[in-house]
Amino acid sequence: SNYQYIFTEIDDAVGKIILNRPEVLNALNRPMITELVNALETFNKNENIKVILLTANGRSFAAGADIKEMKEDDPIYLEKLDQFAEWDRMSLIKKPIIAAVQGYAVGGGFELVLSCDIVFAAENAKFGFPEVNLGVMPGAGGTVKLTKTIGPRKALEWLWTGEYFDAKKAYEYGLVNQVLPVEVLFDEAMAFAKKVATQPPLSIRLIKDTVTKAVDLSIYESMQYERKNFYLLFATDDQKEGMQAFVEKRQPIFKGK
Ligand code: HXC
Repeated sequence: SNYQYIFTEIDDAVGKIILNRPEVLNALNRPMITELVNALETFNKNENIKVILLTANGRSFAAGADIKEMKEDDPIYLEKLDQFAEWDRMSLIKKPIIAAVQGYAVGGGFELVLSCDIVFAAENAKFGFPEVNLGVMPGAGGTVKLTKTIGPRKALEWLWTGEYFDAKKAYEYGLVNQVLPVEVLFDEAMAFAKKVATQPPLSIRLIKDTVTKAVDLSIYESMQYERKNFYLLFATDDQKEGMQAFVEKRQPIFKGK
């Protein structure tokens, strides 16, 4: 693939994105985020890709934003640069994004993890927000998403101390779906991605859409939204096929239509 800081690969219906700056623990410089968002959008548009898997080369997932790149920044430069508009585009990806995380996923690296739908962590994974140690704070949604997931008290503890927590704790807090030995991490994440890829794509897509809304909206509003998506799925061939297959006691063949 045509990128400098990432690789992409296609394995059946799974589009794989691999962060590839291992010499600096995949520190996320801005061109790398641009490439990542472009790769996500390319897979999002590709009809043959059903699920996206995000992984990283080397001993760590990502050790945050590239400190050397942002060291001399000032607020006016940052306002004009508007770098987080690219991060916002990640939240518009409709297909499932599954992350496999080993080693450090801290700062912007943790924010990237929090932008994924499903997270498989290696036993050696470490998560946290060290921004406070640099005299700043998270800027790509970390404060917000951590608070929404684990509540304000635990979030403040981690954000104020800047300390890292391990995969077991991340699992207890509901930040990751599974903790696995690092040797099986990528295979298990791929197996899960392939399983989701066999499910009816429009159901998968509208479930993601509705869950995303549920995080943001009131129960009443998100239930109205859920209802519309439920009705919409009755316009699909896959709904007819899924229910017909049940009645005929056979496996359904889903076409994504
Ligand atoms: C630039 C980085 C880097 C980073 C690591 N490196 N993290 N370079 N930016 N964020 C480089 C190191 O300088 C070093 O390069 C090489 O990667 C290996 O790192 P080491 O420190 O030698 O590894 P280790 O001793 O294992 O320590 C791992 C670590 C530590 C604890 C994760 O690297 C670390 O504290 N990194 C910084 C973490 C951080 O503060 N990130 C938050 C950034 S703020 P050399 O050339 O010396 O070999 C942020 C804001 C997000 O993310 C805003 C949204 C984008």
